[in-house]
Amino acid sequence: MKRIDSTALTGVSETSLWTLRNRAVEATRPDSAFEDPLAIEVFDRIECDWGKFGKPSQSHPLRALAFDHAVWQYLATHRHATVVALGEGLQTSYWRLGRRDVRWLSVDLEPVLRVRKSLLPHEDSVVEIASSALDRGWMDEVDPRGGVVITAEGLLMYFDREEALALIADCARRFPGGHFIFDSIPMWFRNRTLDGLKMSDRYTVPPMPFAFSYSEASALVNVMPGIGAVDDIVLPPGRGAWKSPILRRVARMPTVRDLRPSITRLRFA
Ligand SMILES: C[S@@+](CC[C@H](N)C(=O)[O-])C[C@H]1O[C@@H](n2cnc3c(N)ncnc32)[C@H](O)[C@@H]1O
Repeated sequence: MKRIDSTALTGVSETSLWTLRNRAVEATRPDSAFEDPLAIEVFDRIECDWGKFGKPSQSHPLRALAFDHAVWQYLATHRHATVVALGEGLQTSYWRLGRRDVRWLSVDLEPVLRVRKSLLPHEDSVVEIASSALDRGWMDEVDPRGGVVITAEGLLMYFDREEALALIADCARRFPGGHFIFDSIPMWFRNRTLDGLKMSDRYTVPPMPFAFSYSEASALVNVMPGIGAVDDIVLPPGRGAWKSPILRRVARMPTVRDLRPSITRLRFA
């Protein structure tokens, strides 16, 4: 089968290859609980110097599972909801979730959607929107009647703080009763990316200017209209150190919580 050249993906769009590689490598491991045959297929069809992304990490497959679970929870109570995946990259959540009937909007920049379309199966209920998530036009494509769950997985950290918070505020205003799930990085990690964080001698992670702690997220109920509740979502257990119950308990401690990356669910009032 024809292989796809990855060089069209540059800047932040190139990071969709990094996260895909980590999910696909995890999914091939016999000792992993992460299942994603489509990610393996897509990974195998892309021509890329994968080694430039350094050592594979479980962080991305575990993050994907955490997002899947949060979306699944929303769909369990909103059978006719629309899922909006902002900055979806080469994610295969739609197929992992197996809810073929759900209307799914995939919003990303044009070069990524072109690669996505050439590698992933066509589905009638998936609509691709080639646009910046910051351009609010995608909101007009959402039918909010059955509920809306919006994901921003590996996206907001690449925005400026004002841009990211204004996007959340507009979603809260536009989609009452909806959920918004996003992940964020702590300040120390933001600073490392601004200094030029290298995954290898051939790849430097793009700057991630937006750091946001769980404490800041939980304060949104008081400062941002339309935010009804805020949940901290802890990664599911992985392999080795990622399975350790002690480390998982430590991750929940208030003093540590603000120093680690987080996944946050906002429930719109
Ligand atoms: C780290 S990747 C995450 C991809 C996917 N969500 C995942 O978890 O594998 C970041 C993605 O955000 C997309 N992106 C960057 N800026 C964007 C913007 N302004 N609007 C929409 N997508 C954007 C990139 O093209 C890329 O696909």
